Amino acid sequence: MGMRMIGTGSCLPKTVVTNDDLAKIMDTSDEWISSRTGIKERHLVKEETTAGMSAEAALRAMENAGVTAEEIDLIIVGTVSADHATPACACEVQAAIGAANAVAFDINAACSGFMFALNVAHAYLQMGAYKTALIIGAETLSKLMDWGDRSTCVLFGDGAGAAIVRADEREGMLAYDQGSDGARGGVLACGNRSNNNPLVETSKELEYVHMDGQEVYKFAVTTVPASLHKTIEAAGLNVEDIDYFALHQANIRIIQSVAKRLKVSEDKFPISLDHCGNISAASVPILLDEMNRKGLLKPGMKVALSGFGGGLTWASAVIEWG
Ligand code: ACO
Repeated sequence: MGMRMIGTGSCLPKTVVTNDDLAKIMDTSDEWISSRTGIKERHLVKEETTAGMSAEAALRAMENAGVTAEEIDLIIVGTVSADHATPACACEVQAAIGAANAVAFDINAACSGFMFALNVAHAYLQMGAYKTALIIGAETLSKLMDWGDRSTCVLFGDGAGAAIVRADEREGMLAYDQGSDGARGGVLACGNRSNNNPLVETSKELEYVHMDGQEVYKFAVTTVPASLHKTIEAAGLNVEDIDYFALHQANIRIIQSVAKRLKVSEDKFPISLDHCGNISAASVPILLDEMNRKGLLKPGMKVALSGFGGGLTWASAVIEWG
């Protein structure tokens, strides 16, 4: 049994924060941020939540796919910023959309979270366990930022993206690749609660995202082209056969470098980071939804997807649209 992607949706918080807005509250500038990253603005939550944005993105994807809540039998959310330790964001989405027949759980693979969710859903659908899956990447990264660390907080945003995938005789998942390198996990990390019991002294200090930007850059520009090459070859295709590359939206320089290394025109790399910033697990599905709603995606097109980031983790896939 194969799998097709049949609908997409996304949801961004209402409030837009431009680089100039940030320059009013910290020592930075639009020139520094946009020349190094391509980011002009991002959406940040006020009253919105990870689960709330996920549910909204899910409803839009369901409408786009023509799928009802009752039909969904699997929900997977890729996130590192769920609203609660438990229940999982996926369970909150299940309740919000009324998908009573679904099994629901979260995956933590940072910026590769949506791609890992896609690959897990594919494995379940391929073995016949489920028929219709809702996969989501969603983050409120702003709550994990140290807003005194200008080198990191300017890069990220909040939002959610979703896709509906369905078991189908025609395999739309032409190939995938995924990997992890836990030994290098420290280059992009965020601490959680520290040990807290009668045996230990507890630190009450919260930990925030910290990143070695140059190491992350080197990791991305070597691993992503290699993973894409491997996946495209496994799909029996050449790089020229790919209509679009929908990459994790970390940084325009990473995307330009991947395009150069693959010897592909940058025109084949749609961008959302200019108005969204980096939304970790949400960036690939939000970009896909924008491409879908702009009418860029036509039946039969080959789209290469790639997520990469904390863990370290990476995952690529080549899908046939429609
Ligand atoms: N505004 C103004 N100046 C700043 C800012 C800011 N927001 N942030 C840092 N600076 C200053 C630094 O203090 C430093 O000043 P100094 O030379 O006086 O010490 C100078 O700018 C250069 O700082 P670097 O950290 O060396 O900046 P770099 O040129 O490496 O750019 C960046 C940083 C954009 C993060 C870069 O390392 C990069 O592209 N990394 C890729 C990784 C990435 O994009 N990660 C995103 C998340 S991870 C993921 O999703 C996979």
